[in-house]
Amino acid sequence: MSDVPPATTAPAEREAASGSPGPAGRPVTGDDPALRAAYRLCRRRTKDQDPAEYALIQLVPAALRPALHALWAAANALDDLGDDRTAPAAERAARVAAWIAALHRELPTGASPDPVRHALVDTANRWRLDLSELRDAMTQVQDDTRGRHFADWAQWRTWGRDNLLPWFGLVRTVFDRAGVPVALRLDTRETYEEFLDGVRLTDILTDLAADLAQGDLLLPAEALDLHPGSAADLAQRRWSPAVAALIAHLTGLARQWVTQEALTRGMHPGPATVLHTMAALLHAQLDAVDAAGPALLNSPPRPALRTRARVLAPARARAALAWSLTPLTVPPPHHPGSPGPPAPARPAPTSTFRRPPPHPSGEQPPAIPPGRLPAHVAVIMDGNGRWAQQRGLPRHEGHRAGAGAVREVVHGALDIGLRHLTLYTFSTENWHRDPEEVDAILGLLRGELAEDPFRDLDVRLRWHGRAGRLPPDLADLLHLRERTTRARTGLTLTMCIDYGGRDELTRTAAALAGRARAGHLDPALIAEDDFARHLPLADMPDVDLLWRTGGEQRVSNFLPWHTAYAELHFTPGLWPDTDRRDLWQALTTYTHRQRHHGATPAAAAQLTPGVTK
Ligand code: IPE
Ligand code: IPE
Ligand code: MG
Repeated sequence: MSDVPPATTAPAEREAASGSPGPAGRPVTGDDPALRAAYRLCRRRTKDQDPAEYALIQLVPAALRPALHALWAAANALDDLGDDRTAPAAERAARVAAWIAALHRELPTGASPDPVRHALVDTANRWRLDLSELRDAMTQVQDDTRGRHFADWAQWRTWGRDNLLPWFGLVRTVFDRAGVPVALRLDTRETYEEFLDGVRLTDILTDLAADLAQGDLLLPAEALDLHPGSAADLAQRRWSPAVAALIAHLTGLARQWVTQEALTRGMHPGPATVLHTMAALLHAQLDAVDAAGPALLNSPPRPALRTRARVLAPARARAALAWSLTPLTVPPPHHPGSPGPPAPARPAPTSTFRRPPPHPSGEQPPAIPPGRLPAHVAVIMDGNGRWAQQRGLPRHEGHRAGAGAVREVVHGALDIGLRHLTLYTFSTENWHRDPEEVDAILGLLRGELAEDPFRDLDVRLRWHGRAGRLPPDLADLLHLRERTTRARTGLTLTMCIDYGGRDELTRTAAALAGRARAGHLDPALIAEDDFARHLPLADMPDVDLLWRTGGEQRVSNFLPWHTAYAELHFTPGLWPDTDRRDLWQALTTYTHRQRHHGATPAAAAQLTPGVTK
């Protein structure tokens, strides 16, 4: 049964769907024959090159499949370009770059002479996908042409996640837009990323023979070293006890990573069924890797057809039932130039972000040379309650006014080119407030995130805080904004919500203890940078300037690790009265500080010229 239904007949679409009701009268691939052929090609490639992936896509309603085939085929086409060993590395990198450049050019036109890109740009326009989210993945394919070496699992993981997360993120956005959000709670986020590590490791084990033939070994030295001699044996494609032990070790790890019961808790049964089935197919694949023995070094092992059928037959029945519960929203085809569906909500890779609106006074930011600007400003936004009390208003009105000040200060940070702004929004201690006030604060946050006032600005949003205690819908919204702004490079805006410094340090210590117990770390050798690498936001830079409004001069459990050498700035004004000019004033004050970091002024000037006077 085809899953590229005829142009305009909803019944055929329904028939093809796995029980999906399908939106009446909505064509899936439109009436453009070139586009239909493009989608058909993507489907065929998926089916031929990765039957398991194809079978998984068959578990989702027909209306969503073309988008998933297009995404899969595009990811693969790009990988193949980077991997094509008939060309030298530099040429492969150039081909990848040309493919990406063409994609950026073609996106606004909605068409491409390359069928895979044609399907991809159509999918992106129709489902309003922000392809700039793929930036990391695409850069990586280019970098991979130069060969890869991973010292440890941490490096390997970063590489794998940079590649897979953006593509999976777009798939999740398709589900979001269809009205079936694949929501992940913060406490399942690590689980999800580990699941993807398992997907990547299973792929690498499956393709071991092909990679070795090309001289690639995409495994970390940390794992190879545990089985001395395995790297050399693999390079010579020799099946030895060391290689056998290594493979058994790795299939064990991959099995553990793809077994994530918590991942689908609370999820819509449709995507949950797909994920469960994916895990079962990965297990079958890992069994085949284990069973292959020396043959693993010659060709990719495949599970027996009947094994796959045993997994897929019940999954099909479950999926049909699961999807029948929810009517889907499927956007109509996108016709560039015609008054069709809305343009992408997110800026396309080539588009520029808007500038923030100017301050009503017309005032411009002070001219601070970039080298003297702090890299990271953290703010304790205090005084909302007093602001409201002074006006005889309930406290929540103070928080509402405070949300306006947040927008103002973010605009000011963009105006002046600040890289990192971190805002203390709700502390682990703030749960002790009256439940009504807590509800009001969280409700305001929800409203701000839903409205997304920074959507057209170059702001990357991150959430820093404790998992599991915020209402799940708020956590989902935070994740959605994190995901959709992930590739932005302007201002990184970190919202500390249910954040406590002691909680952060405690969790870091627990993570280190876990690593030590697993034998990855010797407690006697733990250094400051090991600690820093295990912080929940390991890439957050040190705070240069800590600013508190509202007149109090205390730090209230805020960023103890990162503020170790911060300059402190306390101002008497209440947060809701704050605007971007107060931020600029704080930055100007900072430029007059002398920072020594424990050295003498002369030595410090040599260490950090431009910052220390
Ligand atoms: C800071 O303002 C905002 C939050 C803690 C959420 P406050 O609500 O603490 O205001 P004051 O300190 O009571 O005036
Ligand atoms: C710090 O303000 C927390 C936030 C700004 C979110 P608080 O008002 O809660 O801190 P204390 O109670 O004065 O220390
Ligand atoms: Mg306060």
